[in-house]
Amino acid sequence: MTQSKLLKTESILPVPDQDALIQSEKLIERIKQALRKQGGVISFDEYMNMVLYESGLGYYSAGSRKFGSEGDFVTAPELSPIFSQCLANQCAEILNELGSGTILELGAGTGAMARDILLELEKQNSLPDNYLILEVSADLKQRQQDELKETIPHLLERVVWLDALPKEGISGVILANEVLDALPVKRFKKLATGFKEMKVGLGVDQFVWVESDAEDKLLNSLKRIEDDLSTSFPENYISEINTQLEQWLNGLEEVLNKGVMLFIDYGYSAAEYYHPERMDGSLLCHYRHRVHADPFYYPGLQDITSSANFTAIAECADSIGLHVSGYTNQTYFLFGCGLEDLLADMNQLEIKAQTKIAQQVRVLTMPEEMGERFKVMALTKDYDNVLKGFALMDQRVRL
Ligand SMILES: C[S@@+](CC[C@H](N)C(=O)[O-])C[C@H]1O[C@@H](n2cnc3c(N)ncnc32)[C@H](O)[C@@H]1O
Repeated sequence: MTQSKLLKTESILPVPDQDALIQSEKLIERIKQALRKQGGVISFDEYMNMVLYESGLGYYSAGSRKFGSEGDFVTAPELSPIFSQCLANQCAEILNELGSGTILELGAGTGAMARDILLELEKQNSLPDNYLILEVSADLKQRQQDELKETIPHLLERVVWLDALPKEGISGVILANEVLDALPVKRFKKLATGFKEMKVGLGVDQFVWVESDAEDKLLNSLKRIEDDLSTSFPENYISEINTQLEQWLNGLEEVLNKGVMLFIDYGYSAAEYYHPERMDGSLLCHYRHRVHADPFYYPGLQDITSSANFTAIAECADSIGLHVSGYTNQTYFLFGCGLEDLLADMNQLEIKAQTKIAQQVRVLTMPEEMGERFKVMALTKDYDNVLKGFALMDQRVRL
């Protein structure tokens, strides 16, 4: 997502329309049922899962606009086709090396990235055998199908939509742009007496944080983080942890027979993620291009995200037999994938179009925009070739 200023929730956020409020009320009722079933509190990852993905009501499952200038945020593929064209160059290198193969995209948003990757690969005569899209949101799946039917009807026969990971293994590339940040996380707080899990309960008129004793599994994970970083979290330190990462990555490892997974997302190494000064974690909510930190604001109407912990992903990958083959920031990745060559063609365009592209490239690559905040990680299986996206700068030592 492009950068927006962090705000306090009250008074400044636009009021949702009546239909949206009704949808949110229905979702609140569903969450209250879950609370009643579980003695009044649920874990934050369960809450996050419901507000984002509850069937027909969650943020990604219901029909709100979400992406683009009229939605809540703008992602790199929405901002400019150049991003996807660079990714296509990386995919072409891998597919050509493998002889042929499949691309599996996780969480394809509006379908913009699939469209632009396929168009670029067609130009390069490197189309994949199939382009699979795993989309958990029925609303987004419909939007992707409409978009691809309209813009690339001649390539549609290669595109297959899935509701779950494919049963048959694939050789090729698995792509996930801004998917890691949408995976549900647990929240914790360090007190003088030890760790608490911050769960969700019901207050007078809205959901509230409830500090509960952390269960052994969570406690062990948190103690391991402190050991690995040779530090203790300061008192009142709050942060997040994805306890389902291993299961998620395991699923992908089982699907990939041979090839490369590319994850692009905002995030850090563990040392940066759990920096003592990051006292409130990385949980953020996006609502109509405003960013704030209250996940209980109009459940189901705003996106909730937390940054990716790339050290945790690398460790997890390592433990299940995947190789961490590259880690860099978005700027180096895009230039490594031939951004400069793509821009060389720009000279033939009118000045107005050139200015527009220059502005898009600025947002994609400047450090204070997406360039440094966004990282790219490559995990490989039975694939030893150099990846062009990491040739300019590989920052695995930072993990
Ligand atoms: C912030 S959006 C990014 C969309 C798109 N990749 C882009 O860059 O514009 C997050 C996407 O991740 C999807 N998603 C969330 N959890 C997922 C999962 N477990 N598997 C696959 N997709 C998932 C959501 O449905 C949504 O499409």
